[in-house]
Parts: sequence; C-alpha cells; structure tokens
Amino acid sequence: MGAAEEITAWLREAGLAGPAEAPAVTPLAGGVSSDVFRVDLARGPVCVKRALAQLKVAADWRAPVERSANEAAWLRAVRPLRGPIVPEVLAEDTRRHLFAMTWFEPASHPVWKAELTAGRVDSAFAAAVGRALARVHAGTADAPDLARAFATDAMFVSLRIEPYLTHTAAAHPALGSRLGAIAETTLATRRALVHGDVSPKNILGGPDGPVFLDAECAWYGDPAFDIAFCANHLLLKAVWQPQHAAAYAAAFDALVRAYLKGVAWEPAEALEARAAPLLAALLLARIDGKSPVEYLTTEAAKARVRDAASALLARPALRFADAAGEIHDRLGAP
Ligand SMILES: Nc1ncnc2c1ncn2[C@@H]1O[C@H](COP(=O)(O)OP(=O)(O)OP(=O)(O)O)[C@@H](O)[C@H]1O
Ligand SMILES: [Mg+2]
Repeated sequence: MGAAEEITAWLREAGLAGPAEAPAVTPLAGGVSSDVFRVDLARGPVCVKRALAQLKVAADWRAPVERSANEAAWLRAVRPLRGPIVPEVLAEDTRRHLFAMTWFEPASHPVWKAELTAGRVDSAFAAAVGRALARVHAGTADAPDLARAFATDAMFVSLRIEPYLTHTAAAHPALGSRLGAIAETTLATRRALVHGDVSPKNILGGPDGPVFLDAECAWYGDPAFDIAFCANHLLLKAVWQPQHAAAYAAAFDALVRAYLKGVAWEPAEALEARAAPLLAALLLARIDGKSPVEYLTTEAAKARVRDAASALLARPALRFADAAGEIHDRLGAP
C-alpha cells in the first residue's frame, strides 16, 4: 500500500472519511522529520502528519516516532488556553504515529519564515507571537499533571540539548564550560510546557494571529528555551539579509518585549537572565552545532555570528538587548 492508500484507509477507520470516500491525498514539501499531507475530504480539507523514524536531513539523526503523540498532546493541552491559535487534533493513531488536524489554507496563512525572508517583517505580528508564547507558558506553569504528561527529558536532550548545545561545546572547547552550564540550567528548570521548536518555519501568519505548529519536541521544562529559540531566528535573519536589519531588530524587540510582559509565573528578569545566555548559545549553535542554518553560507557571515556569540558568552550576565546589540554592531554594509 502506498502512503495515500494507507492514509485514506486510516481516515476511513477514524471516521473522518466515509467508507467509499477516495480523497485526494497531496504530500506537502518542506517537512524534514515527518510526512505531511493535505487530504481533501468531503467534510473539507484536513492535514495529516506522520512521524518518520529517520529525519530527511542528516543520516545520523534519528528521532523517536513517539514525538507524534507528543505533538498531538501539546496541541490538546494548548488549545483550551485563551490566546494561542493551534490546529485541532481531529483523530490520532499512536500506533501508526500519525494524526489528523485542522487545515490552514496557505493563501491566507503564509509560513512566517517566508514572510521574513521576503523582507515583509511585521513587528506587530512578532509581538503577537511573543504574547501567544507567554500565554502558553503562563497557562501551563507549575502544573504537576502537565509535568508528568510531558516528562520528555530524554527526547529533549537528544533532539535539542545535544545537537544544539553539546555539539557546539565540542566545536568550541574554550566555551565548553559556559555552554555546559547553560545546558544544565535549562535542564534543571521545570516551570512550564515548552514547545521546543518555535521557529518561523513552524508559525503561520493568519488573519487572526500566529498559528503554532510542529510541537514534536514538547517538554515540561524551561520556558526560556522557547523565547530564546524563536528570537534567535530574527538575529540570524539580520546577518543573512542586512538590508532588512532594522526591521528584524524591531521585530526582535517587539517579540521579546511582548513575551516578557506576559511572564507571570516568575520575575521577568529571572526568565531573561536564563533566556539571554541561551540565546547567545543558540546563535553559536546555528553556526557550529548539528543543525546549522541553511542560509548563512559565507565565511564572513558565520564569523560575524561566532564573534557576537563568543563575546556574549564571555560576559557573566546578559539581557536580550545585549544579544541584539552584539549582532547589529557586527553587520557589514548591505
Ligand atoms: N495544519 C496545517 N495546515 C496547513 N499547513 C500545515 C499544517 N501543518 C503543517 N503544515 C505545513 O507543512 C509544513 C511542515 O509541517 P511541520 O512543521 O509540522 O512538519 P515537520 O516535518 O515537523 O517539519 P520540520 O521538521 O521541517 O520543521 C509546515 O511548515 C506547513 O507549511
Ligand atoms: Mg516544521
């Protein structure tokens, strides 16, 4: 049975497709860790996502297929919170590691990364992302039931901490102890439900605000990880496309300010004191970790990020503005 037949058979079993219904199953390009399909059912289009055992990017990067259930669980946990928009889980099969969810029409819900890449940088949208993310964290903070349901520490270590922080420490022995301490702090902090992959490629820009996708790495841990991970992308985009640097800087500022305003479970300064060093570490990780950004290809661009990150990591205490300052000080002429 091909993928389309398998998906159709499952949708019939799950009751989303009628017994004789033969919907069009269209694979989407772009996903590297899953097969993602648009399926045009009689009830309307749905999205089906199935986890792959082997990521399409790196031959030696495997991820447990249970992350599919983890993603569906995150969607279910977040949907009742007021604010963040996420797909509804319509059906799930934990044995086959797949689930069906609401389809968001790409024409009205462009991927944020595509917008940012094209230089359409909307600070109000970035602020909405920050607000929504803070709502997820505030709405899930200090919840023992969620901590038990998302005790995914082993997966978070293998999919986030090792590829980003441990791998980078190995490439920069002089920064090893600092990076190791940042990783330890992150892992030791269990305060809220972390999405784990808040990247512009996993956020859609809809008419009602940001839509969050792809929570495979969800973990009950340090919310600082999500804001650092997301803000990092805006700094890297400025190095890539310095002609839009001012707009990316404004979006960075809007994102982190809106987020910090929503930090209700601990002092915002305490959150920022963990997130800003993590941001510096992730900057370096996107050059010398296991998952480097695909768009920074010139040695000059990589050197700028390495210099900024190294300067930041040498400082004892950091704020978000320090990271933005170090990056923007090093931008070459457009
Ligand atoms: N519910 C949805 N409605 C519309 N499009 C979707 C939906 N879910 C995913 N997509 C599209 O498919 C793409 C890949 O989805 P997703 O990020 O969940 O998969 P992935 O394989 O984990 O991706 P990656 O590992 O590359 O981040 C998204 O960027 C989006 O364009
Ligand atoms: Mg994705």
